[in-house]
Amino acid sequence: MSKEQTQKEMFNRLETYKNVVTSELANTQFPEQPLNLYEPVKYILDLGGKRMRPILSMMACEMFSGEYIKAKDAALGVEIFHNFTLIHDDIMDAAPLRRGKETVHKKWNERVGLLSGDALMVESYKRLANYRPDLLPKILKLYNITAIEVCEGQQMDMDFESRDDVKIEEYINMIRLKTAVLLGCSLQLGAIVGGASEKDAQDLYNFGVNLGIAFQLQDDILDVYADQSKFGKQVGGDIIANKKTFLLLTALETANSDQLQRLRSLFNETNNEKKVEAVKEIYAELRIKDKAEQQMEIYYRTAMENLDAIHVDDVKKEPLRTIANYLLSRES
Ligand code: IPE
Ligand code: IPE
Ligand code: MG
Ligand code: MG
Ligand code: MG
Repeated sequence: MSKEQTQKEMFNRLETYKNVVTSELANTQFPEQPLNLYEPVKYILDLGGKRMRPILSMMACEMFSGEYIKAKDAALGVEIFHNFTLIHDDIMDAAPLRRGKETVHKKWNERVGLLSGDALMVESYKRLANYRPDLLPKILKLYNITAIEVCEGQQMDMDFESRDDVKIEEYINMIRLKTAVLLGCSLQLGAIVGGASEKDAQDLYNFGVNLGIAFQLQDDILDVYADQSKFGKQVGGDIIANKKTFLLLTALETANSDQLQRLRSLFNETNNEKKVEAVKEIYAELRIKDKAEQQMEIYYRTAMENLDAIHVDDVKKEPLRTIANYLLSRES
């Protein structure tokens, strides 16, 4: 097959997996009442998104077993879990926009956001509970460790907002927890239901974690530099919230005394537009975007090494390579 054909076939496959997720979610029945519990649940699941985590589960399962559909419930479980975390994350980050629409807590209120998020978490367990009893302990063990790690990462993210001595190392650990382990988990669940060996499942998990760190670095870059019409979230939100992203931490680390003073005084700036512009100016002076992209590249390469170590035919790894490239060149 030519490179072009392979590429086309990869994107068709991505579409197929995405369609499985979309149609399964659309066919999931929720009770009518209470309206303020189930409407937001349906709203967030209907908003779409890249559906990257379930796609990863199905790709992993296909790679080891040739039957992606066996990963369907794991895939839905992780996507539903992800949507739960997004509702709560948007409350915690005071975010107005998600996937181009109002966030749940803006459209309803924070109390509605909390409870509909909780309901989604239960819904995700319902999906996993469909697996055979011999697979279930392994699945739940991984899933539970991951879910609590996401909470740990989210709390660290919050704590870092009001600290000004966060180390890059701490930041990497924070994004590993809040974002990357769920990618690793999505892939490993696919590997488990696809019958992979322990070693391959672990290498695939590591691939997901390194890809996830690169993915969150890209998320932080997009938060500053994305095109608002494509991004679907509020551009500049991280700067407004004093998030200790790789960009800000690198700026703090490399700034001269004048830049450092400007940066620090901007933490208290209440005019958001002015704040975002002024921080971006300092980022430009320090070439922060390039530095963040270089860091992303390092994790991407490590992820590729993890993938290389897996004992399956190289051609079968192509879909995962394609999605990794797609994720790191995305605009939303
Ligand atoms: C957003 O995840 C939250 C992060 C971990 C950065 P995605 O970028 O996968 O969001 P959707 O599901 O595609 O909207
Ligand atoms: C989100 O990190 C991580 C989780 C949702 C657990 P962000 O706060 O950067 O995600 P976005 O940018 O709002 O999607
Ligand atoms: Mg957020
Ligand atoms: Mg957040
Ligand atoms: Mg973000």
